[in-house]
Amino acid sequence: MAGENLDAFKNTASGNKEIDASKKVKVGIIGTGWIAGAHIQQYLQMPDVEIIAGADLIPGKAEAFFKENGVTGARCYPDHVSMLDAEPELDAVSICTYNKTHAECAIYALKKGVNVLLEKPMCVTTEEALEIMKAEKESGKIISIGFQPRLDPNMQKIKAIVDSGVLGKIYYIQTGGGRRHGIPTPFGTTFIQEDTGVIGAMGDIGCYSLDMVLNAIGYPKPLTVTGYTSNFFGKDPHYFEMDGKPAEYADLFGVEDFAAGFVRLEGGIILDFRIAWAMHLDTPGDTIIMGSKASLRIPSTECWNGELDKPMVIYTEVAGSQLETVVPKIFVDPNDPTQSCFYKKVRSFLDAVKEGGKAPVPTSQILYNQAIIDGIVKSAKIGKEIAIELPEV
Ligand SMILES: NC(=O)c1ccc[n+]([C@@H]2O[C@H](COP(=O)([O-])OP(=O)(O)OC[C@H]3O[C@@H](n4cnc5c(N)ncnc54)[C@H](O)[C@@H]3O)[C@@H](O)[C@H]2O)c1
Repeated sequence: MAGENLDAFKNTASGNKEIDASKKVKVGIIGTGWIAGAHIQQYLQMPDVEIIAGADLIPGKAEAFFKENGVTGARCYPDHVSMLDAEPELDAVSICTYNKTHAECAIYALKKGVNVLLEKPMCVTTEEALEIMKAEKESGKIISIGFQPRLDPNMQKIKAIVDSGVLGKIYYIQTGGGRRHGIPTPFGTTFIQEDTGVIGAMGDIGCYSLDMVLNAIGYPKPLTVTGYTSNFFGKDPHYFEMDGKPAEYADLFGVEDFAAGFVRLEGGIILDFRIAWAMHLDTPGDTIIMGSKASLRIPSTECWNGELDKPMVIYTEVAGSQLETVVPKIFVDPNDPTQSCFYKKVRSFLDAVKEGGKAPVPTSQILYNQAIIDGIVKSAKIGKEIAIELPEV
């Protein structure tokens, strides 16, 4: 619609409001904690954005957040409901709350006709994911899930390699990884408490590994899951004392610090996944995508910022010789903020909102990511394999 002088909003076939390119997108931020800082820093670089409101459950936190980030004039609210009720002009919200409230905030925003950039993980259960998708469908709005590595050129190379067909038929994937000592408590305990985080290492970092490989292979549907979860480190007071944190964090710890899953995917593909916040090991292994013609090794990575410590390698056989091809790493200029995957995550969402386009990271894919995590939780509880059944939304 560039160059046309249209009304501020126009209805598109999808029912979404297309926003006049000359008009600023009015944005609100729900949850003004750690990751909200990364969102606001991107919005502040964008001349077509106006941050008009913010909400946080903790009194004074949203006000302090805007002050810290040099934003004046944004109105502050004590929760997402009061903000969305009082701000009918909002075009979009970033939902940066802890995992537990992702679904309720996203559903309420969509019902209010507001486009949503929802932080990962999408939510905490498959049932919630389906409810979000129902609200999305009814609203005709865009909801994109905050998997910024999708926008990183090295991560995109993984999909490009798979799409090239060089690997042949993919039949086995190993992914995950994690940290030797890295239970996240930098700003408190919202990641480790059951009533805020609900899921631990899987919701924090495991969902990225899953997205990295599932996106590369076209997000086949998960069929069955055998899962395991444990919390040997998080329940140990000594672990937190070593970090100079209160030993009582071990009492508050109510999520998993390690999880593993063996997943059958549609198309005869096996996914072998494990993720740790803490372990007596450097890494449980690289990501590998094995195919009938070649295999790809992706050196152990946390994925979240798209970084690879070492280049990827393709293993194959040509004329009876076993060959290894190193895939050169793509340089991402750290001095150019617009090259950061965090910038691109927000920008691609806003472009979709403005143009009435599709969500860059759609719920239809991330439903499967969530279903695997939820499947691991449920299978671990009952101690046997479960079938994943997903109704049409
Ligand atoms: N994409 C990334 O790189 C990345 C990085 C870190 C965290 N995250 C994700 O972001 C989310 C938040 O993480 P964080 O570290 O910022 O957490 P945090 O605990 O620092 O902040 C969350 C804030 O949300 C507020 N909140 C919760 N429910 C609310 C509601 N209904 N209305 C208003 N405010 C509400 C809380 O009071 C809290 O201040 C998590 O789901 C996490 O997985 C993503």
